[in-house]
Amino acid sequence: PARYAVMGNPVAHSKSPVIHKQFAHQFGHNIEYAALWVDTDGFAEAVQQFRAEGGKGLNVTVPFKLEAFSLADNLSERAKLAGAVNTIRFEVDGKIFGDNTDGTGLVHDLTKNLNVHLRGRKILVLGAGGAVRGVLGPLLKQNPALLVIANRTVPKAKELAKTFAQFGKIEAVGYDELVGKRFDVVINGTSASLKGEMPPLPVNVFAGNAVAYDMMYGDKPTPFLEWAMLHGAETAADGLGMLVEQAAESYLLWRGVRPETRHVIAALRKG
Ligand code: ATR
Repeated sequence: PARYAVMGNPVAHSKSPVIHKQFAHQFGHNIEYAALWVDTDGFAEAVQQFRAEGGKGLNVTVPFKLEAFSLADNLSERAKLAGAVNTIRFEVDGKIFGDNTDGTGLVHDLTKNLNVHLRGRKILVLGAGGAVRGVLGPLLKQNPALLVIANRTVPKAKELAKTFAQFGKIEAVGYDELVGKRFDVVINGTSASLKGEMPPLPVNVFAGNAVAYDMMYGDKPTPFLEWAMLHGAETAADGLGMLVEQAAESYLLWRGVRPETRHVIAALRKG
């Protein structure tokens, strides 16, 4: 079999092996896909070893996406923009190609699965860490009317807005500046949900027919999604679809074909 894996720390609960095995099954591809726990100091070594053992490609998750970016010999445009790599392909000439499929995965889930179109809409993105940086380029490519980044630490949001200003209309604010503003799509890219918290949003942040999207997912709705449903969002979606869509983009990079995702998402929902 052709060998792939996801490297992370922690990685035990990763759904990527199940997702990629279902993808391979769709095409009758013979692949092996493992979840590999890697010591925080041992990423570069683990990558070299995996390649030496005949590995074809890797997914990279927390906390190694920045290191994977540094390790890559060549980078896709979207990886350069994201400043991070979540997908590695080992080239036949021995080079490491680094890509980032997170933002494309999010846009795919919104536009294809949830039928949420972004062109001309007002988008609010919460947070200014690595997760948000990874999705701004693909979001702006959809030509929204405006993209606002809100963060507790405002300078981090300003910095991101500056970096991405060349790709579309983008602004950075603190949460208090959101009072009186309404958005069609609100995307939670903070790590608040991990701690059972939610960003300090003002009520009335959702325009009519608004969509709330949390890049995290879990067994039950995140605090942000629960709050969104109580405060006027028409649709609330978690990041499970994004997870499967970024995986499909990785599969496409490795194997040249893009798997069907709807049934895979539905199967994961059922558990
Ligand atoms: P990641 O790489 O996953 O994005 P990160 O770089 O640590 O992780 O960023 C976490 C993001 O979540 C930050 O934007 C953080 O806000 P600050 O930059 O102000 O710290 C945000 N965040 C975490 N907990 C939050 C909470 N309870 N409310 C609002 N924002 C929160």
